[in-house]
Amino acid sequence: MLTNIEEAFKSLLSCLQSLKMYGENHPMFQKSLERAFLAFSDALSMRQEIVIGIIGNELAFEKEILFDLAQFLSSAVAYLKERNIERIAFYSGLNKDELRKFVCFIAGPKDNFKGDLQAALSVAGIEHIAIGKLKVDLSKDRNNLFGVHSELYDSSADVVGAALSGVLNSEKVDHLALKISLNNIMENLSAQRQELLKLASLKRYDIETYTHMLNVSIFSMYFSARLGFEKTDILNIGIAAMYHDIGKMFISRKLLHKPGQLTDQEFGRMKSHTVLGAQIMLRYVDTLGILPVVVSFEHHLKHDSSGYPHPPFLRKQHIASEIVSICDVYDALSQRRGYKQDYSPDIVYNIMNKDKGSYFDAALLDKFFGFMGLWPVGAVVALNDGSIALVKEQNESDVRRPEIEVVSPPEKKRTLDLLQEPGLSIERYLNPWKEGKEFLQLGESG
Ligand SMILES: [Fe+2]
Ligand SMILES: [Fe+2]
Repeated sequence: MLTNIEEAFKSLLSCLQSLKMYGENHPMFQKSLERAFLAFSDALSMRQEIVIGIIGNELAFEKEILFDLAQFLSSAVAYLKERNIERIAFYSGLNKDELRKFVCFIAGPKDNFKGDLQAALSVAGIEHIAIGKLKVDLSKDRNNLFGVHSELYDSSADVVGAALSGVLNSEKVDHLALKISLNNIMENLSAQRQELLKLASLKRYDIETYTHMLNVSIFSMYFSARLGFEKTDILNIGIAAMYHDIGKMFISRKLLHKPGQLTDQEFGRMKSHTVLGAQIMLRYVDTLGILPVVVSFEHHLKHDSSGYPHPPFLRKQHIASEIVSICDVYDALSQRRGYKQDYSPDIVYNIMNKDKGSYFDAALLDKFFGFMGLWPVGAVVALNDGSIALVKEQNESDVRRPEIEVVSPPEKKRTLDLLQEPGLSIERYLNPWKEGKEFLQLGESG
């Protein structure tokens, strides 16, 4: 099915090319129009609509980001983006004349693409094609401490919320929008920009489950990217991470937030979120693949298989489940929750390292903290000389000695690499919502 759609899209773009080279009346254009029309008829014979999205430099179709195709067609993708086209939908009923008019329309000069594109199409009599911007709006103007990446984070949180509640209510889920959001995050992560990690580490004020889901997803994508996974795998791990706790949404809030010990029966119900989640995600195998099922089922299994649910036969966790469970525990421990103390990063580090080799694969956990550092990027920390600094960049060789920016006292303001400063060390973490708050605004990256 996917190849049909790829073919159709390729043929559309070569049609555009031949129009530009030969003009509308040339037989070469007619021929390529014919080919494109056949390709679309073929693809539309099996479905009502085909929606292609352009995100960053990638193309996306429903469940897939078409990385390879986008590489192949990068100039065409840039061409459409220049014309404000981020989304093209083709509906069944499309005729050849509409396709011809559409190709002529997008062949027009850039300046034609400023107003209401959809209106322009209907004026041209094109009814079975829609174009425009993606629904994911990253341009929202939100003023806050974190600057431009916060928009990406917040809009992703919206999309994640919608994708989660869609699954909860068994509604049709806009998985394209979800993939686009996560892909955007992934692109920002791979560009060595750690602002998103910073957000995931600092945005603790919102205890909604979807913040946890989004954070685990961000951490998992970052972790797997640093481990060297392929883009497609990274995205799939990110999606699986996003749904890892979906089963919890069917467990009563009262139980989820119950302070103190759970009874055996309550704990049993709590544990059932893994199986429940896997059952739910089975419904989405067609669009999201099998990984969300696997990860929902296995994310509490533990590296030594001592966790739950008890598998009927000995079963090792899938690597994606291992990645997600490290990120899950990391976020859960770091998250400020009503029923437990706010753990500072050093406490989280110590707790997780106690389970090294049993709950977590030892090498994998070392790698995780190598990438994440003990003090996360963006953390406000107090140094042993009394100055206050922000953590800027991790040093993989020493989790305790990142690059930092001293922000107070004013006369000591500078950036330094703790690896080069044997006399200096980080003494303690300042909670960014309490005593660290005033220093957070002092950092150069807004
Ligand atoms: Fe869980
Ligand atoms: Fe979780």
